[in-house]
Order: sequence, then C-alpha cells, then structure tokens
Amino acid sequence: MQHQDPNAASSSRQPDPHPPRRKRQRTNRRRPRPPTQRYPPLGPDDDRGYFEFYSHLGVHEEMLKDHVRTSTYRKAIMYHQASIEGKVVLDVGCGTGVLAIFCAQAGARKVYAVEACEFAGLVNTVVEENKLSDIIDVLHGRVEEVEIHEQVDVIVSEWMGYMLVFESMLASVIAARDRWLKQDGLILPSSALLYMAPITHPERYSETIDFWRDVHGIDMSVIRPYAKQCAFQDPCVETITPANILAWPHLVTCINCHTITIPELESFQTSFNMRSVRKAPLHGFAFWFDVDFTGSNQPTYSPIRSTQATSILVTPPTRTQPAPNWEQVQNIASTEAALEMLDLPLPPSGDGHNIPPPVLSTAPNEPSTHWEQTVLYFYDPVDVENNQVIEGTLTLSQNPTNKRFLNIRLDLILGGLILKKETTLR
Ligand SMILES: C[S@@+](CC[C@H](N)C(=O)[O-])C[C@H]1O[C@@H](n2cnc3c(N)ncnc32)[C@H](O)[C@@H]1O
Repeated sequence: MQHQDPNAASSSRQPDPHPPRRKRQRTNRRRPRPPTQRYPPLGPDDDRGYFEFYSHLGVHEEMLKDHVRTSTYRKAIMYHQASIEGKVVLDVGCGTGVLAIFCAQAGARKVYAVEACEFAGLVNTVVEENKLSDIIDVLHGRVEEVEIHEQVDVIVSEWMGYMLVFESMLASVIAARDRWLKQDGLILPSSALLYMAPITHPERYSETIDFWRDVHGIDMSVIRPYAKQCAFQDPCVETITPANILAWPHLVTCINCHTITIPELESFQTSFNMRSVRKAPLHGFAFWFDVDFTGSNQPTYSPIRSTQATSILVTPPTRTQPAPNWEQVQNIASTEAALEMLDLPLPPSGDGHNIPPPVLSTAPNEPSTHWEQTVLYFYDPVDVENNQVIEGTLTLSQNPTNKRFLNIRLDLILGGLILKKETTLR
C-alpha cells in the first residue's frame, strides 16, 4: 500500500497560512467564521470572542437576508401554530428577535427570548416598537445562566453552524431543553442530518493552483505548493453543484434534538463506503446538512430526502460516461444502514396538516443558503474509476482548546492508497 499525506506539502512553508480572510470575497458567506485574529485562544469556557462576533450587526443582517433560512423557520413556526398558540416558548439565542416575534405572531402566550451578546437591549426596543412587550421577555445573558421561573412548551433556536456542528451551539439548546422543556414539549428544529459526498472540482483546482503555472506569461509554478496550503489546508465554505458530486451521499450523523445529550455532541465518528458513479479526479469531500421541523421525537425523512433523490447526482449520459446504474448507486451499504437507522416513514399527514413539515436543506441541489456547503480539499486530486469503492472514516470533534472550533479527521482508503486529512474549522 502506498501512503500519501495530502497535507504533507505544508511542512516546509513559512508564511502564515491564515491571512486575513479574503476567502470571504470568494464565498460571500453570510455567517462568516470568526477570523482567527479576532478569536484569541480562549479557555474552554471563555466565550467572549464568540459573543463579540455575534454583536456585529452585519452577521445578523446576513442571516436575516438568507431567505431560505428565515422563511423556512417562519413556515415551521406557522406549521406548528396549534402547538404554539397560548403556550410558553423559549427562543435560545434570539439575535435580533426574529424567531421570538414569529412565535408571538403565531399566538404564543409568553416568549422568553434569550441572547448573550450586546444585542439584547436593542431587541427589547424592537419588541416594544412592535407592541409585543406583554408577550416577549428579552433576557440578556447566556441561556446556561439566565433564570426562567416556569417550564416551557416549545423551544425554538437557530443553532446550526458550518458542517452543522461548528460553533457547538446545540449544546446550549440541549442545556435549555433539560432545564425547562416540558415532557412532550416541542423542539424546533426537531432533528438534523449531516451528509458527506466525494466531489470532483477541476475548475476550482485549476483556477487556484494551476493558475500559478502561467501568470501573465511568467512561470510561477514554484508557488503552487504554497498555493495548495493556502487554499486547501482549511475547510472551505463555498457553493458546489450536483455536477461536482461523485457518489451517492453518506449520512454522517442524524441528531435527534429531543434525545441527544451534551456529551454525545463532543464527537461524531462514521465509517463510509461509497461508490463513484463515474471516472473522475477526486478533489475532496463536500458536507451539507438538513434540519427538519417535524415536531416529533422521530425524524420522518429519509437520509437522502425524496426531493433530492433524483437531482443530487448529475451524471450526464455520454458515450464515454455511461448513465449511472441507479440500483447500484442507491443500494450501497451506507445508505441502507442510514435508512435502517432512521426507520424511514413518510412525512406525517396527521395533525390537521395535508402537507409535510418544512425542511431547511443546505444541499447542493437546493436553493442556496448562507451556509453554502463546506468542502475539504486534498492538496492534489486522486483519480477514481467508475464504480470504485471510496471508503474510510470521518471523525468530527470539538477542539479541546476552544469547543466552538471543530477538529476534522478524514481517513480514506481508495484502491491501494491511504489518504489522511486533518484540519480544524475555526
Ligand atoms: C445563529 S444566531 C441566530 C439568531 C436569531 N435566532 C436568528 O434566527 O436570526 C445565534 C444567536 O445565538 C446567540 N447565542 C449562542 N449561544 C448562546 C447562549 N448560550 N446563550 C445565549 N445566546 C446564545 C448568539 O449570540 C447569536 O446571536
């Protein structure tokens, strides 16, 4: 077996591989990662940098302008109006107060809107101006530290970070659930599913790395190893399309927000076994997530939702690239295992609803969101054949120095190659 470490090229580079994040220009991300420079190495319980970051209005503006995100939350709250009307709601991390106000509009009797960053005062004014002060109580502080003197019927929160679990905010929601949610209370979202798939992206590689071969007629190829390090050492937040995807996606984890515990959030590990649907250079792996608002303890969507099933993969049937064998693509072990794990019932049609509850999807074949997709690139592509097994393990774990950061370890077996990628999303 040949051993290849795609990160090996990083060892000899001296310049700082974390320059001010110009990547933002490329990715136009709406919830920018706190730049390393503004995020000093903090103790595990010191969240000053995190809440300072959320004190920037631009971050909230970007989230509010993410139409898919905000309108799906609104639809979900209205979908569950019967469970919210006349009830007590807790909004964990209310930001500008938008979800708390949606809940008040849905008829909540009382909404506790908890926010740790400096926004809380402003939110109070927004609430007053909208004549909702008798319903919404804005509490300034960490949800772990504020006092609420009653049990709540509903918890709503927008806690998802890149790759779903970046930021580790779900732990705060779970802490609130364990303190205040009534037995059989509602949690929105109810479950969350993280997916991964191998991708091919020759254009991205070419524009970032091959670019240095000919810069206005000058050969700067010597810069290529450093360019690989700068571009691909860290996870990239960017938009990919179904045309980039090389295999039926693998379900990394399904989080049931009713039952998950805080220790379980510290680390996720999965083994994957996928098959390439065509011959192509493999450039890395993409990650995305869905959250659903079923309101039930059981996730009711298939790991690869039915709306995605036909469009997640694009494999143009040409003479050199035969159309995929769908049976083969869909019956791979990992998907079967995932289906079994989730027990795959259809979306509910009860509760007076004829339509299924909304799903907020960040999949590459769905309308784009500020989360885009997260991509782990290798420094160099590896050729895969049609129908080739792509297998390995993935571990995601909270960074021990700062639990908001996410350590990622990918071990890949590809034919005779063993590839390893270790990085941190920060
Ligand atoms: C992703 S934003 C969502 C804001 C708002 N709910 C929305 O949908 O626009 C998450 C917010 O939760 C706040 N937050 C995160 N952890 C918190 C905690 N433990 N206690 C209170 N607020 C928290 C952050 O400061 C941030 O404003």
